[in-house]
Amino acid sequence: MSIVNMWIIALFCLFTLSVADDSGFNTRRFPANFKFGAANAAPQIEGAWNLDGKGETIWDHFAHNYPERIVDRTTPDIACDSYHKYKEDVALVKQMGLDIYRLSIAWSRILPTGYTDQVNSLGVQYYKNLFKELKENGIEPLVTLYHWDLPQPLQESMGGWLNETIVDLFADYARLCFELFNDDVTSWITINEPKQVCLAGYGSGIFAPGIQSDGVGDYICIKNVLLAHAKAYRIYDQDFRMKNKGKVAMVIDSTFWEPGSDSEADKEASERSLQFDLGIYGHPIYIGDWPEVVKTRVAMRSELEGFTQSRLPELTAEEIEFIKGTHDYLALNHYSTQMVNATQEWPIGNPSSAADRSVLVWNRPEWVKGSSDWFNVVPWGLRKLLNWLKNEYGDEEIIITENGYADADGTLEDDRRIAYYQGYLSSCLDAIYEDNVNLTAYVTWSIIDDWEWLGGFSSFLGMYRVDFNDPERPRIKRKSADYFTQIVKNRCVVDENQCTDY
Ligand code: BGC
Repeated sequence: MSIVNMWIIALFCLFTLSVADDSGFNTRRFPANFKFGAANAAPQIEGAWNLDGKGETIWDHFAHNYPERIVDRTTPDIACDSYHKYKEDVALVKQMGLDIYRLSIAWSRILPTGYTDQVNSLGVQYYKNLFKELKENGIEPLVTLYHWDLPQPLQESMGGWLNETIVDLFADYARLCFELFNDDVTSWITINEPKQVCLAGYGSGIFAPGIQSDGVGDYICIKNVLLAHAKAYRIYDQDFRMKNKGKVAMVIDSTFWEPGSDSEADKEASERSLQFDLGIYGHPIYIGDWPEVVKTRVAMRSELEGFTQSRLPELTAEEIEFIKGTHDYLALNHYSTQMVNATQEWPIGNPSSAADRSVLVWNRPEWVKGSSDWFNVVPWGLRKLLNWLKNEYGDEEIIITENGYADADGTLEDDRRIAYYQGYLSSCLDAIYEDNVNLTAYVTWSIIDDWEWLGGFSSFLGMYRVDFNDPERPRIKRKSADYFTQIVKNRCVVDENQCTDY
């Protein structure tokens, strides 16, 4: 071996050794163009639920009419009052040095009935003001068109996401938003987490609008959501993109499903879980059509149950083409990992999407938890999920559009949240540098506490606490806010003096 070769190998070893500190955290700095941000959504922070012309949403309706379904019987009526305090929120984003603020537009603030018969100018003005504030502070808006808050009249008059007319109605709303805000926004998200919209909203029915149609309605909803997303994407592509060269994607959320053992059967159970949990949304967009395993299994069980056709609606050749390719990046929400084992086929009986998957899910007892049973702190799960996406869908640009830690006590000394960030961001660095994943931004959930759907005001994810008992809704800094600010400043998850420059 020549001296030169020996030197190259020695340097390589030094370099690889130096990427982790004593605790195993990646010491490299995030790439210069990597962006950081924080996210939230209109129904969880804005409040002003019926002010200045805003219409009722399915979540307003659900919380008002079924208070027992919300842990603390609270409503989103006032939430963080961000409708009035948005300047304060933007100031916090600015103070932390973040590049991106992810927010959502409330459909019913723009179109109170959900239809285009009335456009609410005060609602339009609110978002115009918010975008102006962001612009003046040099912060990029990342804007979700639909974060679960369907206008209630659309549920009542036509069945919401179960009726295919929703595809055109969503497309009308999306077009209007592109027209109104094309000068203000270049990064768009069509729909947040179709899994929650459909499985929880129209399957188990635990979420608004509370429709229980497990294994049937949820699949119809998924097809309609995919078509609605695709239609909005194509409208943007044809009529708006030339002006500001923006980008559009749908947010997909997924747990990472770690195989319970090295057996082929458990590995297959993990892959099946990923396809049912993520692939059912991602495959039609990034590859085309439903994932094969989902198609085959739902058809097989439907037949055994006595259905004459699969409960999973077919995508016609035309629909497959229409949905395929409707992405400019991949937007991922990820919070946790669970273990999964193969198990016997679940009994044939009532249809259910969990039975269509038929696996055994469990949690390692040693895993640190967040505010609920499934919330395991497993940073390597994120790295594995990012690699799964890369292998499955190719070298797509990936943006993490949500990741963060939920606790139940809301403490200001939130060391567990800090540990979560350090672990998960270190995993992002591993994915970027060790695995060549094209990850370009990390947007955390969240900057301030919010109304957490069924969790009301009893689950906390903010780096700032919001005092929901105080009419002023003050934002109070938690320890994690300083930690995150340091990460953004140093672009590194360990102490500044340990960061590896190269
Ligand atoms: C949702 C957010 C929610 C967060 C934390 C995500 O699934 O998009 O709206 O607040 O989880 O619970």
